[in-house]
Amino acid sequence: MRVDKLLSEMGKASRKESARLARLGKILVNGTAVKKCDIHVDPEKDEIVFCGERIVYKRFTYIMLNKPEGYVSATEDGYEKTVLDLLPEEERRKNLFPCGRLDKNTLGLMILTNDGENAHKLLSPKNHVSKTYRFKSKLPISKEDKQRLEDGIDIGGYLTKPCKIELFDGSASGDITITEGKYHQIKRMLEAVDNKITYLERIAFGTISLDSSLGRGEWRYLTENEEKNLLEGENI
Ligand code: URA
Repeated sequence: MRVDKLLSEMGKASRKESARLARLGKILVNGTAVKKCDIHVDPEKDEIVFCGERIVYKRFTYIMLNKPEGYVSATEDGYEKTVLDLLPEEERRKNLFPCGRLDKNTLGLMILTNDGENAHKLLSPKNHVSKTYRFKSKLPISKEDKQRLEDGIDIGGYLTKPCKIELFDGSASGDITITEGKYHQIKRMLEAVDNKITYLERIAFGTISLDSSLGRGEWRYLTENEEKNLLEGENI
């Protein structure tokens, strides 16, 4: 692969910046400064040093973000802040996108990646990847309503798939696990039993749980194990 493509995929520099830095002798391949960026490198074998930093190539990036309220799950938006705005410039250069959507006022676990193929698998309805949300509702949820929600409920012409609900003390909060992701699904499910969601936070996506050490708006890379488990999860 071309050295400038590699540097751009790693978020280090745009192709134009790479060309400029190469002319300044800032890009070394196996110890030799390259003056032009059209040379091809083997990311597994060649040693690439960019502005003094040894570059360890990774084809895809997976990020766990603790989404705060007020951000939209998009890569760009003319009016609203997007979840990408929470990442530093170097990460934003990597063409990351949110793997699935959370409403503007929903908080919690969001996975961002540039691995289109696997993101597609994780989001495909036929793979039933589970998502768990902590919620609060305006009114307590009765036993009957819990059962109706768990069995599948009509949310305006669509019958939701069976889900799992664990209610906490008082029955007006709990965890709900769904295996699909229709628009405003959980809010609409609660509305279908004449109730209302007042708080919604995603706490798990497939095999990944939200890292409790991440504050709102903070992010980290998935560990190798998390990445492996997510992609090899029982459902995909
Ligand atoms: N269900 C919703 O209603 N909103 C979300 O953001 C996610 C699931």
